[in-house]
Amino acid sequence: MNAPREMLDPAAYDKIWRPYLEAETLPPWCYTSPEWYALEVERLFMKSWNLIGHASRIPEPGDYFTLDFSGIPLIVLRDRDGTVRAFANSCRHRGTQMLGGEGNCKSGIKCPYHGWVYAPDGRLTGAPGMEDCHDFDKAKWGLKAVRLEKWGGFLFATFDPETVPLAEWLGDAAQYAKPYGIDRLKVTRREVYDVRCNWKLYAENFKDNSHIKTVHVNTLYRQVLNYTGPLQYLGERGEWYGAFLPHEGTRTILDGVGKDESAPGVKGFPAIHEFANGAIEAGSFYPSIYPGTCIGMCIDSAWFLEILPRGPDRMTLAVNLCFHEETVARPDFEEIADLYYKRMAIAVPEDNEANENMQIGLSSAHSRPGRMGHMELAVSHMNQAWVAKVLGQPFTRRLEGVYSVV
Ligand code: FES
Ligand SMILES: [Fe+2]
Repeated sequence: MNAPREMLDPAAYDKIWRPYLEAETLPPWCYTSPEWYALEVERLFMKSWNLIGHASRIPEPGDYFTLDFSGIPLIVLRDRDGTVRAFANSCRHRGTQMLGGEGNCKSGIKCPYHGWVYAPDGRLTGAPGMEDCHDFDKAKWGLKAVRLEKWGGFLFATFDPETVPLAEWLGDAAQYAKPYGIDRLKVTRREVYDVRCNWKLYAENFKDNSHIKTVHVNTLYRQVLNYTGPLQYLGERGEWYGAFLPHEGTRTILDGVGKDESAPGVKGFPAIHEFANGAIEAGSFYPSIYPGTCIGMCIDSAWFLEILPRGPDRMTLAVNLCFHEETVARPDFEEIADLYYKRMAIAVPEDNEANENMQIGLSSAHSRPGRMGHMELAVSHMNQAWVAKVLGQPFTRRLEGVYSVV
């Protein structure tokens, strides 16, 4: 199974389409093959809306950050007029990657190789060494813009002019997210990890509730005490699949809100006012937006994963923790936020190790497709969505209701 001549034969995926209690997992080559990965880049990432960061990272005119998304170096910046833009991080002269890390480029982006200069809106404003060239018009040699749209502060990029607008892609996810105040979130902590696993393992892990009582048995599992009802699957329109989990308190600190007698006084931040007003039932909303965007929205905070694929068996993971503007303005913000940061610092390495072990096992010549468990409906569903896109098949979502997570 490690040299899959049948990789594009739909028959190789027959068993992933079964009802999820009968379904098999993806063939291992989907997690290990460079050829399959190349197809994903071409047919999934280039044509989809991909989460590439958050606007609160670049609050001032000229602020920028850079990233590599599936082999494409990008600059994401706030223009002098406040517009957030994305550009290919490739000089139009001879291709040099111009910026790294993050910083401010209000005065322009200067290529380190020969010194071409671009304004933050992408216009080429200086081109030393081109003075004697024939028919050279600076207006034609600006940076290559990448399509970027915002959902609240979440920044999504696509590389295909034909991709539907982001609002259509998100469908009814936007209505479920509204009470979480996503227009007012600020990223206050961002931790970056190099993870030796396929990007899909991380996206699946985000929706895999059954690993919580094993991988996180001494940490997150304690939070099941807070559940107040069964997990419900959501998503009728758009390129996403989500879950709503009703619970008391917050799920973004390890000890819950007032639930753990061993940690008296650990309360976390209050719910944002939409929840405090009882607008909807309190709980967490977890949209998985295709192909790899994972966002967790809680009553008092939110977190999201930037899953940046770097090949079939490697990815960069950036874990972002967000709070509402009014929460960040509290005088005790740093002290209490530390509880949330600790939760991530403990739980994320647990997931990293679990996913790296899966990658090792899947890379074996003896690895074969497995079976979905009864708590793996969302994993099965995502597998179908990904394969359908790569094979160019139609995909219709199946909603199968609710189930207990305890
Ligand atoms: S490659 Fe950028 S100025 Fe020459
Ligand atoms: Fe986990």
